[in-house]
Amino acid sequence: MSLFQSLKKKIVGKNIPIVFPEATDVRVLGAAVRLRADDLVEPILLGNPDEIRALASSRGLSIDEITILNPSDYPKKEEMVSAFVERRKGKVSSEEAQSILNDGNYFGTMLVYMGIAEGMVSGAIHSTGDTVRPALQIIKTKPGVSRTSGAFIMMRGERERYVFGDCAININPTAQELAEIAIESAKTAEIFDIEPTVALLSFSTKGSAKAPEAQKVIEAAEIAQKLAPHYQIDGELQFDAAFVPAVAEQKAPGSSVAGKANVFVFPEIQSGNIGYKIAQRLGGFEAIGPILQGLNKPISDLSRGCNEEDVYKLAIITANQSLAK
Ligand SMILES: CC(C)(COP(=O)(O)OP(=O)(O)OC[C@H]1O[C@@H](n2cnc3c(N)ncnc32)[C@H](O)[C@@H]1OP(=O)(O)O)[C@@H](O)C(=O)NCCC(=O)NCCS
Repeated sequence: MSLFQSLKKKIVGKNIPIVFPEATDVRVLGAAVRLRADDLVEPILLGNPDEIRALASSRGLSIDEITILNPSDYPKKEEMVSAFVERRKGKVSSEEAQSILNDGNYFGTMLVYMGIAEGMVSGAIHSTGDTVRPALQIIKTKPGVSRTSGAFIMMRGERERYVFGDCAININPTAQELAEIAIESAKTAEIFDIEPTVALLSFSTKGSAKAPEAQKVIEAAEIAQKLAPHYQIDGELQFDAAFVPAVAEQKAPGSSVAGKANVFVFPEIQSGNIGYKIAQRLGGFEAIGPILQGLNKPISDLSRGCNEEDVYKLAIITANQSLAK
């Protein structure tokens, strides 16, 4: 069974409510209609209903059975404002909250926080920062996780499937944060039916180079092994030592991960972001993500260059993440 067949099977008929703040974008609207028609999620569209209906009818899309909520005319707005002010603990006044919650990403994130939706998919017309910031402020990270991070599922055909993290959020994580990213990346792998073998990547393998950058990765591997002894985690490893069995034998004999890794954890965002794009553009891998990990509830960030299919797939992933928690 293909990855998406398997992910769809887990959510079909469950009516998991997923909120789409960018419903006036045709890619998002088209995906929401397909998701409903395929009985995969229960979309909640945000925006001006007249505008959304006009767009749907101009594209021949039927949205009769889909819920539309207008942030500027929402019956439970007062309840939402109070919950938001309470959650932000003195950081926003009621007046500020009234105005902030007209923003679709804040409004959508509050629907998830209040349990009206189980997840959110946004970012087709918003930057990563604008999409993710409300989640960091409202949904927050799970106990034991100090930083949310962004992983990519890298796929080529049906047989090659890897997790790359963090390629999207933390600019320069500490050793402790990197350890948490490694563990969360392992959990993400499990959602995608990948049994995780986690390599913390570096330019050095098992002490071959001495530098603070490599030392951070060594420490992160030690912390991660202590925090999650049930996972196979090792580092520091160069990519070839992590991935190629013959190189692993040479450079890291005795490592339970070297030569077998399928979850690759990058030391900071530059190598992570560059690395996934090289695999995508030179290696012909499909990059699915970033999948935000470590949050209490799933919030997903689309790329602004996304198409309808990307929105459709990310919503399926988001619904699956909501089951995993
Ligand atoms: C994600 C990002 C936008 C957050 O930065 P920010 O908006 O400046 O966030 P702030 O520092 O103002 O923090 C806002 C809140 O989020 C929290 N926060 C910030 N980063 C966090 C993280 N990685 N995990 C968990 N919480 C985080 C802060 O603690 C703060 O909480 P508080 O308001 O309750 O005290 C920022 O890390 C970023 O721009 N990362 C790179 C994104 C990017 O360009 N990626 C490449 C393309 S995919």
